[in-house]
Amino acid sequence: MVNEIKTVSIIGAGFLGKLIGEKITLKNYTIRFFDVNPEGLNKFVRRLERKKKRLGISGEVTFHESLSEAVKDADLIIEAVPEKLDLKKEIFSQIDKEAPPHAIIATNSSSIPVSKIESAVERKDKVLNLHFYHPMNTPMVDIQKGTKTSDTIFEKGKKFLEDIETTPLVVNKECFGFVFNRIWHVVKKDCLKIWEGGYADIETVDIAWKIFTGMGLGPFQLMDAIGLDVVYDVEMSYYKESGNPDDEPPQTLKEMVERGELGLKTRKGFYKY
Ligand SMILES: NC(=O)c1ccc[n+]([C@@H]2O[C@H](COP(=O)([O-])OP(=O)(O)OC[C@H]3O[C@@H](n4cnc5c(N)ncnc54)[C@H](O)[C@@H]3O)[C@@H](O)[C@H]2O)c1
Repeated sequence: MVNEIKTVSIIGAGFLGKLIGEKITLKNYTIRFFDVNPEGLNKFVRRLERKKKRLGISGEVTFHESLSEAVKDADLIIEAVPEKLDLKKEIFSQIDKEAPPHAIIATNSSSIPVSKIESAVERKDKVLNLHFYHPMNTPMVDIQKGTKTSDTIFEKGKKFLEDIETTPLVVNKECFGFVFNRIWHVVKKDCLKIWEGGYADIETVDIAWKIFTGMGLGPFQLMDAIGLDVVYDVEMSYYKESGNPDDEPPQTLKEMVERGELGLKTRKGFYKY
């Protein structure tokens, strides 16, 4: 039986790595960060430390100059470096050499199954996809096995997620887009078709969605909030994966991105802000 998870290391403290760290701060874990670009990280780590102190939560928060220092006593390592397969393999291999033998290595990748990374490590029974959702207050995380991940490690991963008050979305069979992103892809895809085909106004689609689901934002408002460049890239990745012409995002969306109409962040997207 592997040890309890007490120390969590985050490798890659960019946008998502920081958000994951913030989330874990609310529990009594020791948190260790490593990033090749240390800019601003000491300040960030001190803020998390103060937050823990203020809330009376134990467990230190540290930033390390080297990956080996950051993982040497870890029970769980979450990799959140950029979405490049070779880089993730290199990081997994380094972690495998430096972390204690019982430690679990997880990737936060949005699109790479851990089965494509696992060849880089010896401990193939201790790897996971743990895919956190942005915004971080979305209390759910996809969890997926590699080809040799043990049931014990999978259960341990689920227990960790429950402990940080997120619902594990269990992926039974390897699946591009995991669970919720796949549902959201289908919604986006058809909303974009309704818009492009002129079948209904975006306002009508948003109202219909809000009435039916009780959500505060409709799909077009959500896409504007996410950023239309991000939406376009994600939809293109589904298209590349499936090769199905039905998945190709509309040319009109591409043209909006090229014109710099990216949604909320440029004050113009489907709506004007
Ligand atoms: N951005 C999102 O909304 C989102 C949502 C879910 C999952 N993800 C996934 O999270 C991962 C990270 O995405 P992000 O948006 O945080 O990217 P990001 O570019 O903001 O952060 C990546 C961080 O990794 C660091 N890094 C690069 N090479 C490194 C190395 N060799 N060792 C250590 N650190 C290194 C960079 O300095 C950077 O701080 C990706 O796999 C992405 O698919 C992103």
